[in-house]
Amino acid sequence: MRIHQHQQQLIVHAPAKLNLFLRVLGKRPDGFHELRTLFISIGLYDTLTFALSTTDEISLTCTPGTRSLANVDLPTDSRNLVMKAALLLRQATGSNGGASIELTKRIPVEAGLGGGSSDAAATLVALNQLWNCGLTIAELHGLASRLGSDVNFFLESSLAGLGSGRGEATRPVTLPDPLVFVVIKPPTGLSTKEVFTELNAPLLEISAASQDGELPKTVAGLAALVRNDLEEPARRLNGDVDQCLAALEREDVLAAAMTGSGSACFALCRSPDQAQSLTDRMRALGLGEVFLVEAAI
Ligand code: C5P
Repeated sequence: MRIHQHQQQLIVHAPAKLNLFLRVLGKRPDGFHELRTLFISIGLYDTLTFALSTTDEISLTCTPGTRSLANVDLPTDSRNLVMKAALLLRQATGSNGGASIELTKRIPVEAGLGGGSSDAAATLVALNQLWNCGLTIAELHGLASRLGSDVNFFLESSLAGLGSGRGEATRPVTLPDPLVFVVIKPPTGLSTKEVFTELNAPLLEISAASQDGELPKTVAGLAALVRNDLEEPARRLNGDVDQCLAALEREDVLAAAMTGSGSACFALCRSPDQAQSLTDRMRALGLGEVFLVEAAI
């Protein structure tokens, strides 16, 4: 995330993510799934503005920043992870701070792009500063993991991170560059919970919880790791995902996969020129909203 102070306000650009690979090792006794994943922060952003309020009220407004989000229900109550994060921070610190929060949403929802999680991480960082709570980054990580499995990655503000556990244990890694992606978000979305249920994964075996190795140093090496174990159940649940992946798999790209629990899919391209021509062709096919993005914080 990138934070700017403008007069009394904090403005945060909260990025989306892709899971370059996502391996499910098995179902854990707590019902979550043990994962190994590579998160990559990409240049597609929600924007959040935080201002102190004169009362102890926390108000949230949510404005669609793209046409495709115009008809989507964007809750502004405690169903929204921004509000959940604000309330959790207040509860954890005993602060009675108020805030007026404006969220401009551009990251598609139910897409596996981590938009809600990134917004939640932005809220923890911004309100910790605005309310002078003084929580350390380690303490913020503790709150982040209670909000969702992807929030910790965004808290790091790193370009890439290896995730383990249920995804919440992340460690920053460096990437070869340039990484250029075309992302397609089909008109329909997917629920994370439903995709994991459809996967019907076996129980985790302790021996499967292996250690991570080193990441490859080249883009081609990284491309060889692209794979998402949630793709099969997502394709079964949502025909749009199947169509998007089939369209990308026909292309001469380095790799193509779904991100997170879907429904968005991406191609890792050979060059910016290839990404541009692929973007034009995918837009012409009308499979969904198409973004040309690079790895970016
Ligand atoms: O953590 P998050 O809120 O993103 O998870 C949503 C749901 O996805 C969880 O309630 C759980 O059913 C499922 N999930 C899982 N294993 C994970 C992450 C999520 O089973 N590692």
